[in-house]
Amino acid sequence: MCGIIGVVGRGDETLDVVLDGLSTLEYRGYDSAGVALSTPGLDVQKRAGELENLRDAIDAGETAPAGSVGIGHTRWSTHGPPTDANAHPHVDESGGVAVVHNGIIENYQALRDELASEGVTFDSDTDTEVVPHLVSRALGDGLDPEAAVRNALDRIEGSYAIAVVLADEERVFAARNDSPLVLGVGEDATYLGSDVPAFLEHTRDVVYLDDGEFAVLDPDGWRVTDADGTPVEKSVTTVDWSAEQTGKSGYDHFMLKEINEQPTALRQGLSGRLDELAGRVTVDQLDGLSTPGRIQFVACGTSYHAALFGVEALRSAGIPAQAFLASEYATGPAPVTDDTLVVGVTQSGETADTLSALREADARGAETLALTNVVDSTAARECDHVLYIRSGPEIGVAATKTFSSQLVALSLFTAELAERDGADSRELVAALRDLPNHLQHVLDESNAEAVVDEYLGSESYFFIGRGSAYPVALEGALKFKEITYEHAEGFAAGELKHGTLALVTDETPVFAVVTGDDERARKTIGNVKEVEARDAPVVAVTDGASDVERYADAVLSVPETHPRTAPVLANAQLQLVAYHMANRLGRSIDRPRNLAKSVTVE
Ligand code: AGP
Ligand code: GLU
Repeated sequence: MCGIIGVVGRGDETLDVVLDGLSTLEYRGYDSAGVALSTPGLDVQKRAGELENLRDAIDAGETAPAGSVGIGHTRWSTHGPPTDANAHPHVDESGGVAVVHNGIIENYQALRDELASEGVTFDSDTDTEVVPHLVSRALGDGLDPEAAVRNALDRIEGSYAIAVVLADEERVFAARNDSPLVLGVGEDATYLGSDVPAFLEHTRDVVYLDDGEFAVLDPDGWRVTDADGTPVEKSVTTVDWSAEQTGKSGYDHFMLKEINEQPTALRQGLSGRLDELAGRVTVDQLDGLSTPGRIQFVACGTSYHAALFGVEALRSAGIPAQAFLASEYATGPAPVTDDTLVVGVTQSGETADTLSALREADARGAETLALTNVVDSTAARECDHVLYIRSGPEIGVAATKTFSSQLVALSLFTAELAERDGADSRELVAALRDLPNHLQHVLDESNAEAVVDEYLGSESYFFIGRGSAYPVALEGALKFKEITYEHAEGFAAGELKHGTLALVTDETPVFAVVTGDDERARKTIGNVKEVEARDAPVVAVTDGASDVERYADAVLSVPETHPRTAPVLANAQLQLVAYHMANRLGRSIDRPRNLAKSVTVE
């Protein structure tokens, strides 16, 4: 999910072009960086930490990496901590093949085992490192460079944007599947990037690669084929982004970019974790977890709302669970028995309240698990177990894609435990498989902007839901508050009449999340009628399974799916409501006043 840059045709400027390209990708968040330049030979330099560390290592070296072809990478770790050895590029044993990769190779363990059985030794913990060894093996079998790279790609499963260079080879080979990759067509040079900003200073003429496509960049230009080598016609488009939009892939705000990255983020989080044939989940990171008697979640803010979703999912599977605000847990009584598992839900892995609660849980004798987005974060390192949500870096202060990734990870976590008791996950697995595409449909078809125009300037905004729609209502209100600065409140739908109904007027739109057609949906429709009777406008966020639309003034639709995936879809509609309202109000959407992306103080 992080950054790739490649270039052919810039001669002795190659190293600067690659390093400057990586600088433009820094905003995406990363934990290590590296470069590889070829012809003649192959030079690789890579370092954990900031790009500055890499630049210092190059400057300190006797000779800087030289060559007329180059690739570079900023890593957002998913397999193995951020160390020099785990940084990309990864090379084969001969040092003649260098690879950079964004994404997740699902079958990396089997490939590592296969290669190791043939005597290959690995220098890193990463999934990526299998690729250079596969290319090298194919070269050893007599394949030419392009065929050897294709042969390696045929063996890997999962998500990738990949670039490969070889010693004494004046070409860059690249391919994409589920992770973005784009070509830059210059006058006398061709560029490659995860994102246009990587080479925007050199050209605005771009070729977007599609999944399954393979590109070859050489001194004469570029060509694209499909996975089998059949040439593919690609159009060159000219981007007209402003400098301000650079880094946001053309979106006006990181928040909107990250809302739209959710299908890709969820695919990453699901990658290698669904066994569709067997109808079960396969979450390797939970293999070592003993089955807990009860589960306590500790979290803050948006992550607390995800924890509430986790409680609902676990209780539906018959597993005792509670969610605690982390700031309350650390200083309050929470019964910890020896079969208690305390799960810290924290995308950053650095939230002080949550870390404090986890340390208290550990002191009380509980086993701990970090459900987090950042490899090697403090929570990941201090807990007994870790489950990575693999959402990729999130720049906007308001959590969007990481919340969706948390819900998916919690569904996988619940299914893993339920399967140990013989539960059948077949329906859930199918729904999770389809979720990224359903989410893409919601993002493409949403009329949230029109709803915002209708209710802009209202006095206050209420969000209601029952069951797993309750955390969605809370999250919808939080997202709304934190970026519009307007008053909003989320409620369990049945709770509104116990007091706050006094605030409900024709000036207080009520967003009602009603998916499915069970008793909860029907009771929420009763609550909708209560607010309608007080002239409140009602916006139904619904899959159309019930007749709530009859009582609504506006509808935000989602596809009809599974009870575990419907909240992700409904939440996306409310993210867009908050975003468009804040945009109409001219708010500082990516950096709202008073807020920080990671709250590292208690
Ligand atoms: C969410 O939009 C906020 N930025 C905030 O509530 C956040 O969810 C909370 O601070 C917890 O952060 P964490 O997930 O990194 O622990
Ligand atoms: N899965 C690879 C790793 O952990 C690539 C991560 C990325 O996309 O930056 O090294």
